[in-house]
Amino acid sequence: MRLRSVELELADVTPAAEFLERLWGLVPAGSSGDTRFLRGTGDHPYILALAKAAAPCVAAVTFSGSDEELDAVRRRNGSPRRIKFNLPGGGEGFEVRGPEAQAYRFIEETSVAERLKDADRPIQLAHAVINSQDVEASERFAVEKLGFQVSDRTGHMRFLRCNRKHHCVAYAKSEFPSLNHIAFEMQGVDAVMRGIARLREAGFESVWGPGRHGPGNNVFGYFVAPYGGVIEYTAEVSEVGDDYRVGGPEDWKWPPGRIDHWGLSKKDTAKTGPAERVFRFTGS
Ligand SMILES: [Fe+2]
Repeated sequence: MRLRSVELELADVTPAAEFLERLWGLVPAGSSGDTRFLRGTGDHPYILALAKAAAPCVAAVTFSGSDEELDAVRRRNGSPRRIKFNLPGGGEGFEVRGPEAQAYRFIEETSVAERLKDADRPIQLAHAVINSQDVEASERFAVEKLGFQVSDRTGHMRFLRCNRKHHCVAYAKSEFPSLNHIAFEMQGVDAVMRGIARLREAGFESVWGPGRHGPGNNVFGYFVAPYGGVIEYTAEVSEVGDDYRVGGPEDWKWPPGRIDHWGLSKKDTAKTGPAERVFRFTGS
């Protein structure tokens, strides 16, 4: 199973797509009506969909897998009806809703896109972090209904995986459910740093990073996109197996004044403001 895409809805699709293509590094992957699709250099047909809507929303966080993997998730959820998605790459799948109406889509693997050679562009999505009022319930749903495994728990976050990568989804304690941020996987630390420099040169300062996270050990740089969503360049997320010991809050405490492994980053919450909470789930 792999995290494949996030489907966003927002009022001004064109400027958002232009920013994501021109500066962030995504690649156009077609359009359908008012919806624009963007891909990375990896083999997913697209990784971000931008549909036109009156208010910003998340329509879905989408995973792809084999028929067997999808069947296993369907069975855990009382066999929801199959949906034929009219999206780049096609594919059949289904949708389930989490305890706070989080929309998770599962779609058959359609790795049709030719891989691109460009070390400065994101490869694919690394993870989506979802704000949740009840992270315990969200975690339980992800384990029992989605079949994911818990990797780590911190004071206010839960990290879960759907393959060997440390996390594909995480839940952050919040006042109401919404999308916290989307992370894009880069080829390595150099690509993350070059991305941060590219954004800086265009007038966008990172709101957190560069730094190296605790859980997942990945390198990061966070930005608030002009459309209001928080996006992250990341690389080197650790791979774990069934023998991984699930960490708890006591494992992830920083010395005073530090919030990453390097001690280089300070989270500028004043800059992120309410932006990270703008995108609620459609219908929630
Ligand atoms: Fe992240």
